[in-house]
Amino acid sequence: MPNDAQIDIWNGPSGQKWADQSSALDGLLAPFASSVLESGDIKAGEKVLDIGCGAGAMTLQAANIADGKVSALGVDVSEPLINLARQRASQTGSSARFELADASTFSTQEKFDIAISRFGVMFFDHPASAFQNIRNQVTPEGRIVFVCWQAITLNEWIMGPIQAAIPFLKQTPTPSDPNAPGPFAFADKDRVYGHLSEAGWQGISIEPLITELTLPGTSLETTANLMLQIGPLAGLISEQEIDPKPVHQAVVERLSKNLSSDGRVRMDSACWIVQAQAS
Ligand SMILES: C[S@@+](CC[C@H](N)C(=O)[O-])C[C@H]1O[C@@H](n2cnc3c(N)ncnc32)[C@H](O)[C@@H]1O
Repeated sequence: MPNDAQIDIWNGPSGQKWADQSSALDGLLAPFASSVLESGDIKAGEKVLDIGCGAGAMTLQAANIADGKVSALGVDVSEPLINLARQRASQTGSSARFELADASTFSTQEKFDIAISRFGVMFFDHPASAFQNIRNQVTPEGRIVFVCWQAITLNEWIMGPIQAAIPFLKQTPTPSDPNAPGPFAFADKDRVYGHLSEAGWQGISIEPLITELTLPGTSLETTANLMLQIGPLAGLISEQEIDPKPVHQAVVERLSKNLSSDGRVRMDSACWIVQAQAS
């Protein structure tokens, strides 16, 4: 079945780690939710569909726009993350709704004014057909706004810790298929344009979004802990069965180069912000 491998990943240890670290990750990724929601210019009365909503931070934010006069639905394939999103909605009295569903096949009678996503659209086996399905869920006047990562090499906050870990790895990481589903699958903006265009989206705009990120954690040790638990570095440590202790120390030393006077680590990130109209 399409997307099976990613569905397994997001329902296994990776999804659970994202759920366990959701507060830290939401802090880290908060600037991107702001960029998507500002670009989306969501108005009172509009219906919003959040693709790959994870633990629902941006869906909850969308539902609060215009004093809560926005209807927001988040869809995601990860059961632990959808459960957490529902729990957050009920704890905060939010009207945001969440559904466990694959965005490439999901459909409802409801038509949405806008589809949004913060790093939730790079995991499809067949991106053009997934974007076509998403387009079918919005009104003919509907729009899409999402953020996705540029190349890993342009993202210092991920590359820095990986480079620090290289001396401790059993094998030097080999470049993987740049088009395979995963966080960096949309690094090539021409490819993103091609998928959206094949899916029938119009007026496609893909602009760079270069942001200095404040990494989570108020000490180098806690920041390094998180960097070892998520993303490609976590994958390398677990695949190669590496002792994390010396890697942790090397990552602390690397992060110390970016320590600001307020005790927080700041590093560069590079994304695309993508917008298009359904017709
Ligand atoms: C990097 S996380 C981002 C989560 C959330 N948008 C955020 O910013 O916190 C990617 C999310 O996409 C979800 N995902 C992957 N493939 C999907 C699919 N086919 N349909 C819906 N969600 C999917 C994952 O389960 C995961 O929650």
